[in-house]
Amino acid sequence: MQTTPEQKPRGEILLRTLAMPADTNGNGDIFGGWIMSQLDLAGAIVAQEITGSRVVTVSVSNITFKAPVSVGDIVCCYGECTRIGNTSLSIALEVWIKNRAKVGMNQHYLACDALFNYVAIDDNGKPHHISK
Ligand SMILES: CC(C)(COP(=O)(O)OP(=O)(O)OC[C@H]1O[C@@H](n2cnc3c(N)ncnc32)[C@H](O)[C@@H]1OP(=O)(O)O)[C@@H](O)C(=O)NCCC(=O)NCCS
Repeated sequence: MQTTPEQKPRGEILLRTLAMPADTNGNGDIFGGWIMSQLDLAGAIVAQEITGSRVVTVSVSNITFKAPVSVGDIVCCYGECTRIGNTSLSIALEVWIKNRAKVGMNQHYLACDALFNYVAIDDNGKPHHISK
């Protein structure tokens, strides 16, 4: 599943970090769970900005790992809100990888995409209406 030259990241840049040796699995690649946690953080930032309240992750509707992530990769999370419901909202998220040695600093490729769903909650942890 290679990134085509026409493909561009979806939405705005939300988070950038470096994949480290502590984040690897038994194969020496980066854990899918670590990538999911980065996406969850990125999505929660957008969800909080939109709702102006606390949010919790209620589900991940779809996640696809398209290319392995390696130690030393610059992991860039992009995303945008695709749906605002009564108390919930969906954020489409993508991980794009930059790596000087692999593709050069002017190139990047899509490693993962996902749809995260969040619910706005009040101080008691109960869903509350999102005003649009
Ligand atoms: C998320 C939570 C607050 C929802 O509470 P609830 O009383 O079940 O809420 P409701 O059934 O009224 O649903 C609230 C909204 O969530 C949506 N929702 C519920 N389950 C969903 C699912 N599996 N996927 C997507 N949306 C879902 C509902 O459609 C509703 O959206 P809407 O108001 O925009 O129409 C509650 O289940 C909870 O606290 N879960 C734990 C969250 C958490 O700890 N996350 C971190 C896990 S690591």
